[in-house]
Amino acid sequence: MEESDLKNLPGVGPATATKLKNAGFTTAEAISVTPPKEISEKTGIGFNTVLSIVNGARETLGIDFMTAEDLWKKRQDMLRCTIGSENLNQLMGGGIETQAMTELIGEYGVGKTQICLSLCVRVQQPVENGGLAGKVVYIDTEGTFIPERVFQIAETLGLDPHETLANIFLARAYNSSHQELLTEHLFKFCPENNVKLVVVDSMIGHFRGEYVGRENLSERQQKLNSQLHKLLRLTEAYNIAVVITNQVQANPTAFFGDPNKPAGGNVMAHASTHRVYLRKGGKGTRIATVIDSPYLPEEKARFKITEGGVEDAGEE
Ligand SMILES: Nc1ncnc2c1ncn2[C@@H]1O[C@H](COP(=O)(O)OP(=O)(O)OP(=O)(O)O)[C@@H](O)[C@H]1O
Ligand SMILES: [Mg+2]
Repeated sequence: MEESDLKNLPGVGPATATKLKNAGFTTAEAISVTPPKEISEKTGIGFNTVLSIVNGARETLGIDFMTAEDLWKKRQDMLRCTIGSENLNQLMGGGIETQAMTELIGEYGVGKTQICLSLCVRVQQPVENGGLAGKVVYIDTEGTFIPERVFQIAETLGLDPHETLANIFLARAYNSSHQELLTEHLFKFCPENNVKLVVVDSMIGHFRGEYVGRENLSERQQKLNSQLHKLLRLTEAYNIAVVITNQVQANPTAFFGDPNKPAGGNVMAHASTHRVYLRKGGKGTRIATVIDSPYLPEEKARFKITEGGVEDAGEE
């Protein structure tokens, strides 16, 4: 999908184009996937005008009804980024997908951030080398992005560590509303900077910290939902991969098996395209399982964390 100039959209004059751009809606793609109410609130353009602009954008892009054949074709553009471990790649159907949001779930220290850092390096590689030939946005909510570790991974893989670091745009999100603001900027920032991977590590940390107690749960879930859907729209508008991390919480209803479940409830479960549950195995190995996937089988993959990022691990 080509990026289109706003001025070519039906019903958009120079003044309207400026209002849209100032509010962060710089492309027909962004306009076509954002709820009209939200565009109206942010730009101050009347709702009915926004409706016709949105419809015009959709028509220009030809995305109202598409045949299943068209959808199939669009999904042929889907790219997959190698994770570093062949076992993990296979588990994920070939790697981390664009046009999809992948959620990494697991307890502290299991390797969620390590996989993200490894992807930050791999995604910059040319497509024939398993990358997406693009740059990275890393939204760090916990201050756990460690540039030295990225340096080490790049160096171990024989890549230029300085160049690798220069292609990663970091944003430290200080609270959930800051996180929201950063998410909105992505619709402008990603296409302008050839960003192919967006990481949000962790997606839910601030929400859990800020909305404590049952009485705040529904507001929390509503805000979380809106942010997740923005990320999902981003993946589709620009053929981008989004990777988010999630923690586990005690599951009081579990009588046997794993006493933990992913945080974020149904909202999180429904928004993510692929959910990968990570746990620790013996001898420093890690075990990944795909849960609730629309088309990936529930299999296990063993990997380990090494100097070069993420690698296959054999049996324990
Ligand atoms: N250079 C390295 N070589 C090997 N293992 C490493 C290296 N750096 C980090 N690790 C391993 O990575 C683990 C930390 O994983 P990570 O920080 O990704 O966890 P996490 O799932 O993000 O946890 P949290 O929920 O606390 O954010 C450590 O246990 C450490 O063993
Ligand atoms: Mg982490």
